Amino acid sequence: MARRTKFFIRAGIFISLLLVLWNFFWVFRLQQPDKIPTKIESALLSSVPQSMNDVEFHTPKKYLQHGNVPIEKPLEIHIAAVVCGNRTNETIVMIKSALIMSSTFIRFILFADETATSSLNGTVKLWPENVLNRMSLDLRPITFPADKAEEWKKLFKPCASQRLFLPSLLQEVDSVLYMDTDTIFLTSPLQVWEHFNKMNKMQMAAVAPEHEDFSTGWYNRFARHPYYGNLGVNSGVMLMNLTRMRQFGWEKYVVPIYHEYKSKIVWGDQDIINIVFHFHPEKLYVYPCHYNYRPDHCMYMSVCKTAEEQGILVLHGNRGSFHNMKQPAFKAIYASIEQYSFGGDLPTLSNNIKESLTKTVDTSCGKLMNSLPKLLKI
Ligand SMILES: *[C@@H]1O[C@H](CO)[C@@H](O)[C@H](O)[C@H]1NC(C)=O
Ligand SMILES: *[C@@H]1O[C@H](CO)[C@@H](O)[C@H](O)[C@H]1NC(C)=O
Ligand SMILES: *[C@@H]1O[C@H](CO)[C@@H](O)[C@H](O)[C@H]1NC(C)=O
Ligand SMILES: *[C@@H]1O[C@H](CO)[C@@H](O)[C@H](O)[C@H]1NC(C)=O
Repeated sequence: MARRTKFFIRAGIFISLLLVLWNFFWVFRLQQPDKIPTKIESALLSSVPQSMNDVEFHTPKKYLQHGNVPIEKPLEIHIAAVVCGNRTNETIVMIKSALIMSSTFIRFILFADETATSSLNGTVKLWPENVLNRMSLDLRPITFPADKAEEWKKLFKPCASQRLFLPSLLQEVDSVLYMDTDTIFLTSPLQVWEHFNKMNKMQMAAVAPEHEDFSTGWYNRFARHPYYGNLGVNSGVMLMNLTRMRQFGWEKYVVPIYHEYKSKIVWGDQDIINIVFHFHPEKLYVYPCHYNYRPDHCMYMSVCKTAEEQGILVLHGNRGSFHNMKQPAFKAIYASIEQYSFGGDLPTLSNNIKESLTKTVDTSCGKLMNSLPKLLKI
């Protein structure tokens, strides 16, 4: 009996000892530096999943240095646009203005038809290295999201409605600044992008009002469908948090709204956007009119107070005003930036704009723009 007990005690001690040794072994192993992988192993390790590559691509090194500190600044700005027909020149001017005004890396995501694609690609690739280094051009064909393509093809003209489908078409993208092609940055796109940080957790998009006063407003006087707020919104310069729009189920609202209001819709996608946010106003953030400055703001009288105080941040030449002679001041700014070549002197560009604007003082918009405190921050 005693022998047996002794045996068990010894066996117990032996097993405990083995366990202790085993533990030591693991602690020791964990402290060892990573062993150098063999060739086959390193080949396997380097095939990081696609999503990891994306994370790395979108995270410039300077933000990684902070280790685990949460990142609050945008990693890079995404500007999205839809380019069809003869809108390539305009688009190039919009892109140029963004790059002139900013030093932040910008990824341009352009949905373009075939002619626009080759002409955009051809123009951009001739730009100097130091400009190409701070941008990327992501050209995609005009298309509908695969799962409902047939249904939507029957309802919408692909080009006109493309931007309504950005949440599904850009599944891998968190947020974009959508720009109409007839827009020009007169400030850094970062200044627009920073409104993402001012939005609350419910808000999924940001736009400027369509109008500032009731007497000249379009929606309040003419619309036969619901619209956002008192005067509606203009969708030409629109921050879109695509993640939140996907969570909201954005596209499932688009088709029923289209069916219900199609005979009353005049301004296409902008009307649909107005109708959605009429019913969900808490989901929209509205920034002031100088983020989307249009001829309406100056053609009769000056109605955009923030532009008078802080200057125009984004110029929007809607209704062809970058090309026709209705608003020479808009055309003058457009032409100056179109004629500018990268590498050229920026103060000269600034002077050219001011000079060509002074020739428009006898027009209502020209008179006003000439009086603005700081038109260009370059
Ligand atoms: C675009 O620019 C080119 C070159 O400057 C010019 O020849 C062409 O007419 C322009 N197209 C449009 C539609 O304005
Ligand atoms: C593009 O073409 C349309 C129709 O032909 C024309 O009305 C418009 O002025 C053109 N736009 C530009 C920027 O040349
Ligand atoms: C743009 O041009 C480059 C070569 O210059 C070519 O490799 C690329 O496929 C083109 N992209 C598109 C979308 O046409
Ligand atoms: C967009 O919304 C998502 C989900 O709420 C959030 O995690 C993300 O930071 C937002 N993006 C931007 C640029 O604010």
